[in-house]
Amino acid sequence: MYRQAKYDEPLIFDLSKKGRRANIPPRCDFPREDIKIPESMKRTKLPELPELHEGEVMRHYVRLAQMNYCVDTGMYPLGSCTMKYNPKINETIARSEKMMYLHPNQPEESVQGILQILYELQVALGNLAGLPHTTLQTPAGASGEYCGLALIKAYHDDHENKQRDEIIAPDSSHGTNPASTVMNGMKLIEIKSNEDGRVNMDALKAAVSEKTAGLMLTNPNTLGIFEKDIIEMSQIVKEAGGLLYYDGANFNAIVGKIRPGDMGYDVLHFNLHKTFSTPHGGGGPGAASVSCNDILEPYLPVPTIDYDKDKDYYFFNHDRPKSIGKLHGYYGNVAIALRAYAYIAALGFEGLQHTAEQACLTANYAVRKLEKIDGFRLSHGPSIPRKHEGVLEATPALRNYDVSGKDIGKMILDHGMHAPTVYFPLIAHEAWMVEPTENENKDTIDKYVDAVEIEMEKARKDVEYAHHAPYNATVSRVDIGWSVKNLVVSYKILKEKLENGEYVP
Ligand SMILES: Cc1ncc(COP(=O)(O)O)c(C=O)c1O
Repeated sequence: MYRQAKYDEPLIFDLSKKGRRANIPPRCDFPREDIKIPESMKRTKLPELPELHEGEVMRHYVRLAQMNYCVDTGMYPLGSCTMKYNPKINETIARSEKMMYLHPNQPEESVQGILQILYELQVALGNLAGLPHTTLQTPAGASGEYCGLALIKAYHDDHENKQRDEIIAPDSSHGTNPASTVMNGMKLIEIKSNEDGRVNMDALKAAVSEKTAGLMLTNPNTLGIFEKDIIEMSQIVKEAGGLLYYDGANFNAIVGKIRPGDMGYDVLHFNLHKTFSTPHGGGGPGAASVSCNDILEPYLPVPTIDYDKDKDYYFFNHDRPKSIGKLHGYYGNVAIALRAYAYIAALGFEGLQHTAEQACLTANYAVRKLEKIDGFRLSHGPSIPRKHEGVLEATPALRNYDVSGKDIGKMILDHGMHAPTVYFPLIAHEAWMVEPTENENKDTIDKYVDAVEIEMEKARKDVEYAHHAPYNATVSRVDIGWSVKNLVVSYKILKEKLENGEYVP
C-alpha cells in the first residue's frame, strides 16, 4: 500500500515519553469555588496528549515543514488550482495588530475601517465581473457555486417557476458544479463537448426546456480553452427562460480583459484563493466572492455590507426579507478577503491585466514544449491556443511504453518538482493538466520540461523504473483505492486496527 519513506518522521504521539514537559503552566490563581462548571461537562480522565520537551516539538514540526512542498519552494503547476505565489506583503497586512485584535462581535461603529475595505473589495470584484452586487461570505469556490445556484433557485421560486429545476453544465465542468446543483435540490443535465473541447451547441439547444433553471459555464473551461460561442449560448438559455451562472474559478486567464456581466451572465463566483493570490490552505481557509445583477440581488445572503453615503457609514444590512439566509459565520473569511484587497490594490487594473497575459503565455509555452516529448499529446483541439492552463494526454506513453500519466507524475517528484493535476478533467485520457501561472519564468518552465524529458527517456528504456517511482520522495506509492475504501482519519484507531491485524496494508 505504502512504501516506507526514505526520510520519515514519526507521529508526535510516537515521540512522546511519559513525564517529559515543554513548560509548566502557572498554577490557576482564580478561586476554584468561583468556577461554576456543570458536573456533566467536567473531565473524568486526563486528556491523552503527547509528552515532549520544547526542542523536540520544535524539531518535529520544522522537519515536517521541510518535508512539505509549497509554492514558496518551487513551481507548483497544479492545473485547475492556480497555485500562485502569495505575496508576503498580503500576509503582513492580514497579520497586523489592527486586524488581529478585531472581534466580529464589535459594534459596527468601531469597525468602520474593515467594513470600508470589505465594501471596496466588493465594488472592485463587482467591477471586474461586470455585475454590481457582491457578497464575500462564501468560504470556497464550491460554496460560491452553491450560493449562486441558490440565488437562481430563489429567483425562479419567487417568480412561480418552481418547475425550473434543471441546471445544464458541460461534461468538462469541475466536479463541484454537479455537486452544488444537487445540493440545491436541482437536477444536472450534462451536455457533451465537441472534439475541440468546447460546448456542443446542438446538445445545448436540445437540453433547454421549460424546466431549465440555468446554464453553468466555466470559461475558460477546464481544458484551458475559451468558449468562443458564449454569446450565442447566453441567447439560447435566456430565450428558454433560464439564467446564466459563470464559474469564474479560471478568471486568472481573463481578469481585466472581459466581464461575464457584459456577456449576459446573471451571477458568478471568483475563487479569491486562485485569481487573487490568497492562500489555498489544505482545504481552507479559502474564500469566494459571488457577484450578481439586479434581478438576483434581493436573494443575496444576509448580512450584506452596505454604505450609507449621506452618513458616510458602513453597515451590516440584515433587513433583507428575500435573502437565501446566512451561509457563513459572521462575514466569511475576512482575513482572506483582506489579502485579496491588498493584492488588487498593489497591482491595479493594468497589473491585473498583465497577470492574465503572463499566465496565458506561460501555459502556452509549457504545453507546447511538453507536447513534443515522446509520450504526450495535447488533448482536444490541438491547434487552439490555450488560456491559463493546458491539458496534455499521456496516452501515447501508456499505449507505446506501458507508462501511465500517474507514473510520469511520480517520476518528476525525484527532481524535487510537483506533479501537475492528473486524471482531470475526465473528458481527457491520462490527463496531465499544467498551469504554471504568471509567476514562473522561462528558465523554471524549461527546467520542468527537461525533468519530464529525462524521466520519459528513462521510462522508455525501463518500464519497471517508471512503475516504482519515485525513489526519493517522503512517501512513495499510496494505494488510493485501498485508502478510499478503508478511510480512517484517526491515527489512534488506525494504529489499533493495524496492531489487531484488522488492516493488512
Ligand atoms: C473550474 C472550477 N470550479 C470550481 C472550483 C471549486 O473551487 P474550490 O476548490 O475553492 O471549492 C474549482 C477549483 O479549483 C475549479 O477549478
